Amino acid sequence: MGDGDNMLQGKKIVLGITGSIAAYKSCLIIRQLIKRGAEVQVVITPSGKEFITPITLSALTSKPVISDFFSQRDGTWHSHVDLGLWADAMLIAPATASTIGKMAHGVADNMLITTYLSMKAPVFIAPAMDLDMYAHPSTQQNLRTLQSYGNHIIEPGTGFLASKLEGKGRMEEPENIVAQLEQFFSRQETLKGRKVLITAGPTYEKIDPVRFIGNYSSGKMGFALANECANRGAQVELVCGPVSASMQVVHPNIHRLNVESAQEMYETCMKLYPSMHSTILCAAVADYAPERVATQKMKRTDEDLVIRLKPNPDIAASLGKIKKEGQILVGFALETNDEEVHAQAKLRKKNFDFIVLNSLKDEGAGFRTDTNKITIISADEKKEFPLKSKAEVAKDIVDQLERL
Ligand code: CTP
Repeated sequence: MGDGDNMLQGKKIVLGITGSIAAYKSCLIIRQLIKRGAEVQVVITPSGKEFITPITLSALTSKPVISDFFSQRDGTWHSHVDLGLWADAMLIAPATASTIGKMAHGVADNMLITTYLSMKAPVFIAPAMDLDMYAHPSTQQNLRTLQSYGNHIIEPGTGFLASKLEGKGRMEEPENIVAQLEQFFSRQETLKGRKVLITAGPTYEKIDPVRFIGNYSSGKMGFALANECANRGAQVELVCGPVSASMQVVHPNIHRLNVESAQEMYETCMKLYPSMHSTILCAAVADYAPERVATQKMKRTDEDLVIRLKPNPDIAASLGKIKKEGQILVGFALETNDEEVHAQAKLRKKNFDFIVLNSLKDEGAGFRTDTNKITIISADEKKEFPLKSKAEVAKDIVDQLERL
């Protein structure tokens, strides 16, 4: 990005600082933000003040540092709600394991956490801790929770969550943190005014009142896509199969509709589709459903049990058939063999503009992982991407969508 298009000019940033040895690097972050024309308001935790003095910070930002709910000196009340409305972004750098844990669980015992919970703007988190703490399943789980809320994790180093932890934990360098903020703002408005339909998760096909046919889809890829589109200003309709209760969306641009079966997902999508600009079909839809659903719990017998299945509607093919000029339809293909041949066939059969292929052969790709490795295939090109977090993969997919 050239100097001409400085995306941070005039942006209001709340910088949260916590008690890490990396707190001194906050000064470098502030300097870079201010140099690019941003306004910075520091909110510091009590232990943050053990590592860096508010005097240094307020000298750099030309603003008093906030750390208590009211100012000791003149009793001025600091409103976390006002800060949440004021900011264009909140950056927590460095973010300790403790702060990350409190954020994930809503433990609002200091000004930084209350500000976070009131924040209306996107939140960026730059973890800083030693490797053992970073690699601990508890920290990783908390980071995944925050990521699923649409928060942006600025991962230590340049890797991705959980899969390659060697040498990680040290906070990302200040210039890279600032670059990620810049990149975010440069993408922010690119989908403004666009309506995007996204399907996510599995479908459940009822056998009887207590049993169903389902699959291992977690919905993570679809949720990451919903967050990415919403962050770029799109209005998102997220049609969601039965996913775990921990899968939540908080972005105000996302409207979530829960469905259970393929038939319900089909009906919901058919209703929404005509008014959509773009549609991304990420759900793992069951191809078949039991022909009859038993009204009572089926009893065990000594005989073999045969459940007859009937085909479900193919949502993708149905939408592909009624696709209008200017509408974009994107599909997924999860394959185990002859991946590209199958993906090409689905691209044509379902009238997709492009298809995202992930192979179960690739470690870390597909269902129930936090990472994915994709190939984007359209009629005239093929692009392979390395293994990345699903949030990063979502960026690549939405970049491709924007190119059309
Ligand atoms: N899809 C859909 N409705 C279905 C089945 C699939 O919308 N009933 C969508 C998926 O969301 C995905 C794409 O179609 O975007 C391909 O899904 P996949 O299950 O790989 O394709 P199928 O047509 O079911 O092919 P097969 O199971 O034979 O591989």
